[in-house]
Formats: sequence, structure tokens, C-alpha cells
Amino acid sequence: MEVRTLILGAGAAGLFCAAHAGPGTLVVDHARRPGEKIRISGGGRCNFTNTGTVPERFLSENPHFAKSALARYGPWDFVDLVGRHGIAWHEKTLGQLFCDGSAKQIVAMLLDEAARAGATVETGTEVGEIAHDGSAFRVVLEREGRRREVAARHLVVATGGKSIPKMGATGRAYEIATQFGLGLTETRAALVPFTFPEGRFAPLSGTALPVRAAAGGAVFEEAMLFTHRGLSGPAMLQCSSYWREGEDLTVDLLPGRDAAEEIAEAKRTQGARRLSTWLSAALPTRLAESLASELPAERKLAELSTQAIRETADRLHGWTLRPGGTEGYRTAEVTLGGVATGGLSSKTMEAKTLPGLFFIGEAVDVTGWLGGYNFQWAWASAHAAGTEI
Ligand code: FDA
Repeated sequence: MEVRTLILGAGAAGLFCAAHAGPGTLVVDHARRPGEKIRISGGGRCNFTNTGTVPERFLSENPHFAKSALARYGPWDFVDLVGRHGIAWHEKTLGQLFCDGSAKQIVAMLLDEAARAGATVETGTEVGEIAHDGSAFRVVLEREGRRREVAARHLVVATGGKSIPKMGATGRAYEIATQFGLGLTETRAALVPFTFPEGRFAPLSGTALPVRAAAGGAVFEEAMLFTHRGLSGPAMLQCSSYWREGEDLTVDLLPGRDAAEEIAEAKRTQGARRLSTWLSAALPTRLAESLASELPAERKLAELSTQAIRETADRLHGWTLRPGGTEGYRTAEVTLGGVATGGLSSKTMEAKTLPGLFFIGEAVDVTGWLGGYNFQWAWASAHAAGTEI
């Protein structure tokens, strides 16, 4: 069998690329259904883009690489498409756009766009050996026990990263890149909860609060959630992309407030009260109780020296924690790192040393922040490759 373009992976990037690559395109995926991650994304409502998309919100060894594709296909281009398909959406927070209804609408839209462009999508198909004979790629595919070889002028690798192997994630893109001489950057689980030894925060599990959290030079002001295993919530997921083993996180538990000033004021007006009372009003009760042992919580406010107030405030604004690790690929939303951008054209995503070979989406060493940025990269990189093909 011969096709013009073979796309490996019917996820966000693969399907969107098919919509632009046009007739003679075959998309194959080993999963039973296409777009599985889209379906479960954003709690079932798919946070499909972010209106605050700027290259600075993407991590890569080459921070300039994503600029061209993102400039040529931005969030409003995707919003237009969503609108043309009659999909209602809303902004939740921080520029994050979600479907009003269901993420399934985005999958249906992508399948519709791919079909309209004349592409075929085939699921339940294993990808075997891949070769290049000098003019075409030859790829062995296996479906329902039947093997066949497909010849294609263009091969687009859109098999994503390693996050959530249970959902069919594999490192296949990295193997293909290596096979054809492209480099890889170190990969690691990102947008993933932190774990702490000995169930340190288990008693606080379920407690959430807004924080200002910092890791590896990045700062995020979002919610933090205590879990049985450690810390999660948007602030922690964002930090995980910048954190490295052995490093500390710094968490301001009272962002935008001045704890020293507030405690000093309470000392003047309610000196007979204990610090623990003030803490319980300022923070979720269980967190306040757990911090009490590290602070002069049972002292009356009137008894606190200026220095004690300062130390308490420093503690609350600069809580320092050292995670034991992260939950890893099992629960990570994305994979940081991947196919090194040095081997790819930033305009087309095509391999510099092998024309016709493209890498798009999460497989590439471009990782967005939490909040719709990773889908925007999938759309933009798929558009760059698809329109070139
Ligand atoms: P994607 O993973 O979507 O697709 C890859 C496809 O390749 C899959 O269909 C897979 O089955 C297939 N495949 C893999 N290996 C293969 C092989 N060897 N042979 C054949 N097929 C193979 N992002 C965002 O912007 N907003 C959000 O709301 C969310 N929410 C979210 C929730 C959860 C739970 C997760 C895990 C992730 C998110 N994300 C997200 C991240 C987002 O899902 C992710 O960045 C994109 O799906 C990446 O798109 P790709 O097409 O590159 O990979």
C-alpha cells in the first residue's frame, strides 16, 4: 500500500496534522480509540488552549524553537475553528479556555476536520519496523493479526511522550528519532504531583489553599493541594517542570498578604488571643494545626516579641520543603524533553537531515505550562508540519 503521508499517533497533534496534510494521508494509532488524552483532559472538558500563549511559557533546551510555529498558529486560530464547529466554550481562569460541554466535542471536531481533508484514521494498529529506502518510508503495520507494509513520502511522528503508559503512551518517537540520527534531550515526568517520605502530609490530605510557590527560578501563584502522597494542585504541577531532585520548593502560604504586619496589628487589638487562633483564621484549620508545633502557637499575641513575629511571618511566607520525588510518568500530564529541536526546522518540524520526516506535539522537546499550553503546542506544531506537507 502506498500513501502520500503516514502519521503515527492519532492524538491531538496527529489528528490536527491530518486535517492540514490533506488527501492521501493515513493516521495510525495502536490505541482502540483516537484522541484518548483529549477525551480525559481538563477533567473531561478539555482545556484546549490558553489566550496567554507566549513562547516564554514553554520549556525547551532551545527557548526560541517554538516561536515560529506559535506565531503562525495561535490560540485565536483554534478558537475560530472551535466556533465554526459550534462548540461552546468559556474561560475558566488565567486565560484557560474549556469546552462548556465535553472534551469529546474536540475529538469529534478533529476527526471531522481530518475526514474533510481526505485523511483516513485507523486505530488498533501496531507500528512495526520503519525504514527509509532513499525516496520513501516503509513502515510495517499490524492490525488484527494481519501485517502489511505501507510506503509513504512523508512520515509524521506524533506518538507523544511517555506520560501515562496505561493510556498507551510509549517512547516510540524517541526510538524513531534515534534510528534516523536525531538527538534527544533528557526526558522526565512534568506537570506531576510531588511525593514526600513517610506520608508527611497524609493527615492534611484534601486541604487546598492559594499559594505562591517557587522552584528552579520559576514562580507560580495558584492553588496547592495536600494529598496522601504529598503535594499537588496547579501550583505544584507547574513547579514540577522546573524542580530537580535534591532541590527545595519555597511556598508562600499567604501570598499578597503581610503576615508580620497583620500579626502585629492583632497583637495591638487582640493581645489576649493565642497565635494559634490567628493562624486558624488565616489558613485552613488542619494546616494551621499542623504548623503549630513549628511556631510559638500557644503564646498569647501580646507576649510575642517583634523578632518572634518576624520569624513567624518568614515561616509562613517562605515555607521550605524538600520533596522526595514525583509521582512520575504514572500520573504526569506531560513529558519534559524529547526529540532535540536542533535536528528539526522550527518552521516545518521537518528533520534537517532527512526530508520527509517530521516530529510534532509532545514528542518534541517543547513543554508548555499547565493550562492549555500543551494542546496549543500540539495544534501549532501540527499546523506547521501539515501545511508544509
Ligand atoms: P498524544 O499523547 O495526545 O497522542 C499520541 C498518540 O500516539 C496516542 O493516541 C497514542 O495512543 C499513540 N501512540 C503512542 N505510542 C504509539 C505507538 N508505539 N504506536 C502507535 N501509536 C502510538 N494539555 C492541555 O493543554 N490542556 C489540558 O486540559 C490537558 N489535560 C491533560 C490531562 C491529562 C490527564 C493528561 C495526561 C494530559 C493533559 N494535557 C493537557 C496534556 C496533553 O494531553 C498532551 O500534551 C497532548 O495530548 C499531546 O498531544 P500529542 O498528540 O503530541 O500526544
